Order: sequence, then structure tokens, then C-alpha cells
Amino acid sequence: MALWGGRFESGPDALFRAINDSLGFDYRLALEDIDGSLAWAKAIHGAGVLEASELGTLSKALADLRGAIVANPRLPLDEQQGETHDEDIHSYVERKLVEKLGPLGKKLHTGRSRNDQVATDLRLWTRRAIDARLAELRDARRSLLDIAQRESTTVMSGYTHLQRAQPVLFAHWALAYQAMLARDAARLRDCRARVNICPLGSGALAGTAYKIDRHALAKDLGFEAASTNSLDATSDRDFVIETLSCLATLGVHLSRLGEDLILFGSQEFGLVEFHDSVSSGSSLMPQKKNPDAAELLRGKSGRVIGSLVSMFTSMKGLPLAYNKDLQEDKEPLFDAMDQASVCLRVVPKILDTLKVNRAKCEAAAKGGYSNATDLADYLVAQGVPFREAHEQAGKAVRLALSHHVALDDLSLEQLKSVAPRCEADVFPRLSLSVGLAARNVHGGTGPEAVREALAHARASLDAAHSKT
Ligand code: ARG
Repeated sequence: MALWGGRFESGPDALFRAINDSLGFDYRLALEDIDGSLAWAKAIHGAGVLEASELGTLSKALADLRGAIVANPRLPLDEQQGETHDEDIHSYVERKLVEKLGPLGKKLHTGRSRNDQVATDLRLWTRRAIDARLAELRDARRSLLDIAQRESTTVMSGYTHLQRAQPVLFAHWALAYQAMLARDAARLRDCRARVNICPLGSGALAGTAYKIDRHALAKDLGFEAASTNSLDATSDRDFVIETLSCLATLGVHLSRLGEDLILFGSQEFGLVEFHDSVSSGSSLMPQKKNPDAAELLRGKSGRVIGSLVSMFTSMKGLPLAYNKDLQEDKEPLFDAMDQASVCLRVVPKILDTLKVNRAKCEAAAKGGYSNATDLADYLVAQGVPFREAHEQAGKAVRLALSHHVALDDLSLEQLKSVAPRCEADVFPRLSLSVGLAARNVHGGTGPEAVREALAHARASLDAAHSKT
């Protein structure tokens, strides 16, 4: 049943349907469409359009349909049989009402347009999806905190330019990703506030002509407020762009996490080993165990970024107000949410079962002269200006390299030959634990600082937990 046949002599061409129909993807808005319709029915009852008994009958039918769709979310698709084609989810819901209630079903759309309707549905959907992602983010962050806890004394090399740089605690590495995901959660929460605005009552573009209490309607749907401009409310999708932007940033963080884990898990690094349950084999090479889950954390972010770009591009040339291009908002949003969800849910699967090879981590921290900065700092404490200390420590590295030994394996004589201010007390300063302990500055990798950061992160995660 088309919602707009009166003006037309002929029905739609099959190919027109193919480009125009959106039920194939917007069936996912069914519950939101019904919730919006329930609230709209109350609102037009308030405006005197529906009798109390009509409101009761409509509400009951909508609630029944809701129940059927909760039981089978694909029901709107399953019900496209024979001659029945619904253009979109709004047409589907209306057809179901009319089939059940006759003329009363046709009253529901009074004063409403699919333009304010779909904007409302999509905001309701996005709000709910954000809440689901926030819960998944919490679990992913918890896994990062758990691995930080388990590896709180594991020392590894930190890298810059992918070259061994300075020793860091494994926990410090995990907490870095936790901090990124904490910001992703904060961004989504902030975005949610702008999503949570009610367009319903904006009509097609100019506002509804019925005496609707839009503030009560907004409140009824759990929105923070009613939108303030009908042209804007029916035709902007910046809330989709903003949500996608949050997801793209999150995707980039998860991608970097994936990349680190892939590198650390390679035989060349050998710092971690993935559990079989998140790895796959090769169809040709029997020995292979591949980090596919981590690779897809990296890979899927490209797709989410693509969705953001697609939405930006769809919007940029649109004249006010609604244009059918806006129908292209749903697939990128749905897909990005789906990808973000599976990525977030796989993070605990990867981390909770990850085996960290502590000995290899420590060997990497010890190798690569990552205590050379500590030697320079020691010399500074002996009164050598930093630039000279840097030069002398560099020479010490070269000397050690030529003997194929670590810095602290050089004799005092050898050290003195390039850094004359060295004394016997230099050796303890070159140990990993002393080097780490020197970095207990707030935000640093010293064990005390990391313990505090971990406790603080746990507390703020629990606080966020009680909020959403
Ligand atoms: N399926 C449409 C969409 O997603 C619903 C709104 C249709 N509005 C219209 N004026 N044709 O945007």
C-alpha cells in the first residue's frame, strides 16, 4: 500500500521501486517507528483528533505489533509476499494498522509527515544504539584494566618510530588504550545529548497544523527537548555525522590496538600469544596461526571511516529542507554501529585470553639500549650538562654495540673512557627497575604512577557505569 497514490495515474515502475524502497534496511527502525506512533497517537488525542476509545484501540494494536516484532525483528521483511510491497517501515506499520483497524488506522498519520517521523525514529534508534555501545565500551575498558592489573609488574620496551625507546610497564601500555576508550565513551555521551532532541511535530517542513503539545510529546518519548526549527529538524542529519565521527575515532583507537597486538604477536616480537579461539589457520600452510580478530579490529575501522565520509558527502549539497538523499543516512549508520559493536565485543575475547610472554617482554626492554636515557640522566646528576651527557651516553651505546653487550655489561673503565664522570654507582641506575621507578611522575610509567592511574581508571569506570 503506497502512502501517496491519490495524485498518480500509474503505479511505480519496478526499477523505481528498486531505487526508492527502503524497507530492506529501515525495517530496523520498526520498534522506534511504533514507539513514535504510540506517542503521536497520544499527542493527536490531546489535540482532539482522536477519541479516547480510538486512542485505546490504536495503542493496543500498536503494542501488539510491537510485541510481534520484538519476537521476530525481521517480521516486516517476512511479510513482503505476493503482491505486498511496503515502500518503507512507516508504510509497513500503517498498512498493518489499517488491515487490523480499518479507517481508524488511517487516522494516525494526521498532522504527521514521514519527514518528521523518520527523523524521530532515527534519533530514537541512535540513542538506543549509543547506549548499547557505551555498555560494550565499558566491558572493553574493563578488560584493558584487567590485563593492566595482571601485568602490573611486566616490563616491556616502549617504542617510538617502532624502534625500542624506553622501558615501560605492560600495564602502562594497556592503560593508554583504556584512556583512549574512556574519551570515546565521553564523546558518545556528549553526542547523545544532541541526538536526544525530538523532531516530531515538525510536519513535512513547516510544522504541524494541529494543536500538539510538542514539549509533552518530546518528554513522552524520553527526549531532552523538542527541536526548535522545523526546517532544520526534518532535514539535518548532523546527529548522524556526529555519531559516526565518534565511532570513526573509536574505530581508529581499536585499529591501533589491533595493530600493536598483531606486531607483538608476530614471531619477530613474540611478546604475546593469541588464544586459539580468536585466531585462524591457513588453508595451505599447516603451521600458521593468524591474528585475524586483531586484524579485523584494524580493518573494520576503514569501513566506519567510510560511513562517516559517505554521510558528509550525502549532506553537503542538500538544499533545505527534506530531500530523498537523506534516506542514504541509514545504511552507513547501521553498518558503523554493527561494526563498532562486534569490534568492541571482541576486545575482551582477545585480551582476557591473551598470553603475555613476560620473559620476552623483559628481554626486549633490556635489549636495544633503552636505558641510555637513564645513563644520560645519571651523568646530568653528576653535573654534566644534558647535551654533553646525551653525547657521552650515545658513545657508550656505540662502544657497547661494538662489543655486542648491554650498557650495564660494560666495565666501569670502559664507561669512563667515554663518560669520565661515571662511578660504580652508575650500574644500579641502569637497571630496569631503577629506570622505571624514576618515572613516577603523574602520567608516567613508574610503578607507583601506574598503580595510581589504574586505581583512578577503575574508579571512573565504575562512576560512568552508574551513570548510563
Ligand atoms: N524512507 C524515507 C527516508 O528514509 C522516509 C521519509 C520519506 N519522506 C518523503 N518525503 N518521501 O528518508
